[in-house]
Amino acid sequence: MMPVVVVTGASAGIGRAIAREFGLRRWRVALLARGIDGLEAARAEIEALGGEALVIPTDVADEEQVEAAARRVEEQWQAIDVWVNDAMATIFSPALDIAPADFRRATDVTYLGAVWGTLAALRRMKPRNRGTIVQVGSALAYRSIPLQSPYCGAKAALRGFTDSIRCELAHDRSDVHITMVQLAAFNTPQFEWGRTTLERRARPMGKIFQPEVAARAVYWSATHRRRELWVGWTAAQAILAQKFFPGLLDRMLGRTAVRGQQTDEPLPEGRRDNLWQPVPGDHGAHGRFDAQAHDRSAEAWAAMHPGVAAGAALVLAAALWRALRRG
Ligand SMILES: NC(=O)c1ccc[n+]([C@@H]2O[C@H](COP(=O)([O-])OP(=O)(O)OC[C@H]3O[C@@H](n4cnc5c(N)ncnc54)[C@H](OP(=O)(O)O)[C@@H]3O)[C@@H](O)[C@H]2O)c1
Repeated sequence: MMPVVVVTGASAGIGRAIAREFGLRRWRVALLARGIDGLEAARAEIEALGGEALVIPTDVADEEQVEAAARRVEEQWQAIDVWVNDAMATIFSPALDIAPADFRRATDVTYLGAVWGTLAALRRMKPRNRGTIVQVGSALAYRSIPLQSPYCGAKAALRGFTDSIRCELAHDRSDVHITMVQLAAFNTPQFEWGRTTLERRARPMGKIFQPEVAARAVYWSATHRRRELWVGWTAAQAILAQKFFPGLLDRMLGRTAVRGQQTDEPLPEGRRDNLWQPVPGDHGAHGRFDAQAHDRSAEAWAAMHPGVAAGAALVLAAALWRALRRG
C-alpha cells in the first residue's frame, strides 16, 4: 500500500516542492492550503509523476478545518504516516507598523497552524504508536532578524512547542517521531505576496537555494529519525553564531538586514498579499530569483550522509597529512 503524507502549504513555494518530492516517490499526498488554483496544479503535477493526490482546501489557522482535513484523509485513504507543517504567512515591516490584527493573523497561521497540524497528527499517530511529524522551520527559529518579527516569533515558538512534544513522546515511550528542519533562504513566492508596509520589493537574504533542496531534506527527515536537520551552510552559521555571539549578531543584523531584505525596486502596481486570503492563480514552487538560486547544498548533503561525509573528511585529512610529511 502506498504510504500517506499530509503537506500543509502545498499550493506554492517549498510546500509545493515537498508535495512533488513525495509524489515522485509514489506516496499518496494530501494537499492542504487555501488557493485552489495552486492546489489543483499540485495535484496535476503529482498525478503526472505517478503519485496520488487529494486536494483539501484548508485554512490552517482554523483548528476545526485542520482536524476535518485529517479525518478526510484517513476516511479516503488509510492511516497518515507523515504530516508536514509547512504553511506560513509573513509580514515585512518594522514591528511598530504592523496592525495588531495582522500580527495575530500571522501568528495564527505560522505558529498555531503548525500546532493544530501537529495535534491532529498526534491524535491519530499516538494510539497506533507510529508516524512522523516534520516541522518546516527556519534558521530564524534560532536567530531573529529585523522586519519579520511575527514570523521570527512564530518560528521560535514552534521550536519551543516541538521540544515540549518531544518530551511528552519520550515520557510516554512513544515511537511517534517529531523532527524540525531549519532552512536557510529559499527562492519562493513569499517575497511577492507576503504582506508588507515597506516601499520596496522584498528579497531573501544571503545565499539563496531552490525549493527542491528543502523538499529533498524534508523527505529525508520524514524517512529517518533525526532530531533536527539544518539545510544550507548559512542556516548552520546563523544557528551556531547565535549560540556564541548573540549581542554581536543583534548589532550586525541591525546594520545589514534591513537593507539586505529589500531590493531597489518599488512594489508592483496592484500587488496583492496572502495574509487573510489566498492570491488567485497558480504561483508554483519558485519565486523570481532563479538566476541567483542554488539547486544543491553541500552542507545539507553532508548532514544527510554523515557517514560518507566523515569518511571523505578522514581520507582528505590523511592525504593532507601524507603530503605535509613528504615535504
Ligand atoms: N523561503 C524562504 O526563504 C524560507 C526560509 C526558511 C524557512 N522557510 C519555511 O518554508 C515554509 C514555506 O515557505 P515558503 O517560502 O515556501 O512560503 P510561500 O511561498 O509564501 O508559501 C506559503 C504556503 O503556505 C500557504 N498558506 C499561507 N497561508 C495559509 C493558511 N492560512 N492556511 C493554509 N495554507 C496557507 C500558501 O498557500 P495559500 O496562500 O494558497 O493558502 C503557500 O502554499 C515556511 O514554513 C517557511 O517558514 C522558508
